[in-house]
Amino acid sequence: MMKKAFRILSIAAAVLLLLSSCGSKKDGDDKQQNRTGESPETKPYSSMEDASADGKGTTLDMNSGSADKNTVSSKGYEIVVKDGLTYVGGVLIANKTYSLPEDYAPGVTSEAEEAVNKMEEAAKEDGLELFVRSGYRSYSYQSTLYNNYVSRDGKAAADRYSARPGHSEHQTGMAFDMNSLSQSFEDTPEGKWLARNCWRYGFIIRYPKEKESITGYMYEPWHVRYLGTELAEKVYNSGLTLEEYLGITSEYAD
Ligand code: DAL
Ligand code: ZN
Repeated sequence: MMKKAFRILSIAAAVLLLLSSCGSKKDGDDKQQNRTGESPETKPYSSMEDASADGKGTTLDMNSGSADKNTVSSKGYEIVVKDGLTYVGGVLIANKTYSLPEDYAPGVTSEAEEAVNKMEEAAKEDGLELFVRSGYRSYSYQSTLYNNYVSRDGKAAADRYSARPGHSEHQTGMAFDMNSLSQSFEDTPEGKWLARNCWRYGFIIRYPKEKESITGYMYEPWHVRYLGTELAEKVYNSGLTLEEYLGITSEYAD
């Protein structure tokens, strides 16, 4: 009789133990779900379209290698910092918020060079002469340029039109200044053609009019950035700056 009662007690204890361990596993699963992010502000990257379109060489393969640091932009694009370079939705960014390492010196990228040549040829067929005035710039060359502008105009004024070393898109090898560094370029046939057609060749006008508070720079009708044709078309059609499209800032920390 005592023996039977003991056996029943043992079975009851075992069942209790089993139930409590199932409970703690479930808690663990819930926490896991929260960690992978249901919050609307942190749309998981896998649910977002990668902003990088066909830009081979301009973008990061998000599956290759490990990143140093991952966050998400306000538009849900993953921000990956790898070897000191920042990619947002796969697009390499150089602006006032995100800088490039001093030793990053890719030269002009072959894809951007091919695209700018194609663009120049197309303009020529339309009877216009587009040419590159300034392409790739090294960290040290940008440093010389910026410091000269600071000496001439003062830091606050220079910061409105010249990037500090490490912050220039020209150092990415994917930006070009075309023809004339004058705002009146926008009224020339070449300037109008560039604004209307550069997306067809994978470029955007990077610092549009009246967007200084967003891009960090005054209007530059001559400065184009290569993004690849698919993304350039999307950004062009959106009417947004690259910062707005990707959901990032362009502000110096100091
Ligand atoms: N003029 C652009 C902002 C640069 O210096 O890269
Ligand atoms: Zn430029």
